[in-house]
Amino acid sequence: NGKYTVTLIEGDGIGIEISEAVKQIYSAANVPVDWEPVDVTPILVNGKTTIPQAAIESVNKNLVALKGPLATPVGKGHVSLNLTLRRTFNLFANVRPCKSIVGYETPYENVNTVLIRENTEGEYSGIEHTIVPGVVQSIKLITRKASERVIRYAFEYARSINKPHILVVHKASIMKLSDGLFVKVAEDLAKEYPDVKVSFEILDNTSLKLCTDPSDYKDLVMVMPNLYGDIMSDLSSGLIGGLGLTPSGNMGDNVSIFEAVHGSAPDIAGKGLANPTALLLSSCMMLRHMSLNEYADKIEGAVLKTIASGPENRTKDLKGSASTSHFTEQVISHL
Ligand code: IPM
Ligand code: MN
Repeated sequence: NGKYTVTLIEGDGIGIEISEAVKQIYSAANVPVDWEPVDVTPILVNGKTTIPQAAIESVNKNLVALKGPLATPVGKGHVSLNLTLRRTFNLFANVRPCKSIVGYETPYENVNTVLIRENTEGEYSGIEHTIVPGVVQSIKLITRKASERVIRYAFEYARSINKPHILVVHKASIMKLSDGLFVKVAEDLAKEYPDVKVSFEILDNTSLKLCTDPSDYKDLVMVMPNLYGDIMSDLSSGLIGGLGLTPSGNMGDNVSIFEAVHGSAPDIAGKGLANPTALLLSSCMMLRHMSLNEYADKIEGAVLKTIASGPENRTKDLKGSASTSHFTEQVISHL
């Protein structure tokens, strides 16, 4: 029984199992949070996909939500619910930190990046049409307003974590107008942040350099348009051991929704194989956002100790043999 109420969207597929793990660990750690589970089964209102009013009200009341993965139909069907949530609550900045886990070896050491992704427009604006059969057009929408608020967020974030350097990742060499505007906005805003260094890099070059030597990116905060951030955040996850390990926060002016970067993994759902780490670490971002840092430190510490304690305590995606429930018990024992 807690002081705070958080909306819980358990999600599809492995969402159920990993949400259960989070709930168990939170109660073992006596986190002062009550969960308010909501149903987000999509509904159509005037031909537009939306989520049930009760879910919208819950998030607007609690201002903070933790969300498991929601399945996204490919090439047909309703608009992605993930995007619907980001749009409904105007969650304009998606913050994705990515840090090597001591004790879990990958070909890379000392990865410590933060990627901030524009979260409302770009190729994700969903404006597509067939011009004539066989010819389709997808609009990549870039606005000064959305660019400015995410880049401003990146400047503030860089200051707040004491890495006063932002790297704007773009492809303005080809997309002169759209990415050109994103770059221009960053140049303009830089004047307001004389204490923060600003650099620019072309997307393909960043992807090459990131997987050649990620340590070049540890003392800065990357900011980029939506689709680039989607791709580069998966790339960054790959450096540290995969999507099972990386958290994210969808940040708006008032509301924030914290979620793992991975999907609903229907192939392993219900089998007790899922790794709850990404959702747990997302929940730690959430706790810090709520100024419950001591609980975040405690849970994060226990998760990292569990992963470092050997393959018998790690899930299959981390070359281990632990079930979700064994992993959860281990985390609880390390609290
Ligand atoms: C992510 C996911 C989503 C995205 C999907 C599930 C719609 O890949 O959060 O990165 O493309 O943004
Ligand atoms: Mn993605």
